[in-house]
Formats: sequence, C-alpha cells, structure tokens
Amino acid sequence: MTEQEFIPSYVATSLEKGSVSFTSPSNIALVKYWGKYGEQLPKNASISFTLSQCHTHTTLHYEKKASEGFDFEVYLDGVREPNFEPKIRTFFERIQKYIPFLAQYSFRIETTNSFPHSSGIASSASGMSALAMCLMAMERQMEENLEEAYVFKKASFLARLGSGSASRSIEGPLVVWGEHNDIEGSSNLFGVKYPYEVHPNFDDFQDAILLVDKGEKQVSSTVGHNLMHDHPFAEQRFAQANTQLSNLIPILKHGDLDAFIDVVEAEALSLHAMMMTSTPNYVLMKPNTLAIIEQIRKFRNETGSKVCFTLDAGANVHVLFPAFEKDRVLQFIKNTLAPFCKSGEYIEDRTGVGVIQTPVGQ
Ligand code: PMV
Repeated sequence: MTEQEFIPSYVATSLEKGSVSFTSPSNIALVKYWGKYGEQLPKNASISFTLSQCHTHTTLHYEKKASEGFDFEVYLDGVREPNFEPKIRTFFERIQKYIPFLAQYSFRIETTNSFPHSSGIASSASGMSALAMCLMAMERQMEENLEEAYVFKKASFLARLGSGSASRSIEGPLVVWGEHNDIEGSSNLFGVKYPYEVHPNFDDFQDAILLVDKGEKQVSSTVGHNLMHDHPFAEQRFAQANTQLSNLIPILKHGDLDAFIDVVEAEALSLHAMMMTSTPNYVLMKPNTLAIIEQIRKFRNETGSKVCFTLDAGANVHVLFPAFEKDRVLQFIKNTLAPFCKSGEYIEDRTGVGVIQTPVGQ
C-alpha cells in the first residue's frame, strides 16, 4: 500500500453538523521505535502491547463553515488548552491531503485522559489515535461502503502522522509498526495487528506503571528521535531492534517467558543507552528507576517469577507480568516497589483491544 491509497475520492459533503466520540488506549513498546526519517517513518520496526486502562476519551464536534482554513479549539477536561493547539495544527497540516474536508469545518475537540495529566505518561499515542478515529468516523459518513479494515488502517496511518507510536494504538493486543521481512503485511505507513500465533501466557498480560518521576518530559520525543541522526550506534541499533522482533516470533508462539524477559529488558536498556551516548546526551533514569530494576531482578531470582520491566523515554517503569502471577506480583509491587514511586503512586493496566466508539456525552 502507498500513501496514494489513503487519498479519498469524494469531493463535496452534505454532512452539516454533529459529534463523534472515541476512547483510545496508550501502548507500551516491547521492541522500541527510536529514530525516524521522512514524514514520520520509522527507522526500524517496533511491536507493542496495546493497553486498556490508560486511555484518552475524545469527542469531536464539527460544524460546516463557509470559509476555508483550519478552525478548531482544544479542551482538556472542559478547559480550553491553547498549548495543545500547535501540535494539532501540525497534525492537521500533515493529514489535510488525506482528509480533504478538514478545512471546511469548525471543530471543537474535547479530550480527557484516564491518567493524571502530570503523571509523566505520554498522552500523544492515545490522544492522536482517538482523534484519528473521530475523523475516520466523519469520513465514513461521507464515503459509503468503507470497509472496517480500511478504516482501521487509515486511522493508524493518520495517527502515525500525529505521533509515530500512536499508529500502534488503534488495534490490540499486539501491534507491529514498521516494515519487517518476517512480519507479513507490515508497513512503515501504519500499524498492523500481530499476525501470528500467540501463546496463552501472553493473554491479558499485566502492566503496572510505576510513577517514579511525574511532570514534563526532560527530552521531547521529537528531539529524542532527532538524536538518532548522526548517532555513532544508529545503524547497529536499528538492526538490533529488527533482530529482536524476529526473536520475539517464536517466543510469542511458544510462550517462552524467560526469553521474553531477555528481549524486553534489553530493548528498554538499549533505548536508554542510545540517549546516554548521543550528542547531547541524557540520563533519563532516576535513582529510583534503578532501585526498582534491581528489586525486580532480585524478586525474580528469589521466587522464579516471570515479572520484568520496560521503560519509555523517561524515568517511569512499566512492570510486565503474566495474568497467572497477578496476585503475587501486585503484592510485591505494593510492598516493595511502591515506596520508590512519587507519592507511592502506580497504575494497574493490562493489554486491551484498541480504540472503541462511545456514545457522545459519556
Ligand atoms: O511516538 P513518539 O514519537 O512519541 O515516540 C515514542 C517512542 C518511545 O515511546 C520511546 C518508544 C516506542 O516505540 O513507543
């Protein structure tokens, strides 16, 4: 598929005024995307678990207008949020070619997150995917007979233009984004549901997000991705990520949790190693991030547990574990890991299915 296939054929529309609502989750990468080129295209393939409890709920109100040009307002928790508007404008500019009606409507974008705004959890994946689905719901009313598979694919394609990792939030529980020889149907343009057999060990996989450092990110992901240009280890890193994704295929099939731990933790540390060796360099882990990692490894050695960690581009720790270990690991988190979190806070999440349409007003 090429970009051309996402340029619709309709010209005018009779849709006057209305509202649509979607709830879209965040996702956590197992093999990380870090480094991009062209228009939001990834330098390597990545795979993530779609989450369910950390999500954004977005309602898009639209009304046809006479003049051309973008016209929108963004509200977070009912309050106008002008700080979000430049990012939405850039998003609109990037997708206008694929959503030609954008300039013909006034939009009011109302959004709320299930997680605290200052928690350090990025809302870009959930937010951009929710907005992309709202726009696809409008397109669906204008162009009849759009197949569901195409709607999801194009929503992922649009979400990617807002935030790369957002392309992996439309469906679930496992999504691959980025062309990869071993993954049939994979593409740099959009995320695809992981197409192969997955062992029940990975059903309802748990992710407890430990809030080590709340607040603004030290490095925005745009700046972070740019650090991979001229990075001394860039090519090795992109090759490593693609190899790790190949390694995951038999691991997912056979439910090999020990091998899963090796891949996932190596990926997290490799992502951080890239930031520690770029120019300028960054240390995004905090002392409590390391303390948590140490405790997880100790617990594993002592108990034989299959719990492991991964990290985003920040200090918070995602603690991943199979559903059959839920009681014991949650107890461990509460007793041993929570004291390392800001105000003892963590979020209990688990894998999910992706975006869902919700009745407007709820
Ligand atoms: O989607 P972006 O541009 O915010 O990049 C996200 C990158 C990581 O979260 C660090 C890794 C990933 O694959 O999600």
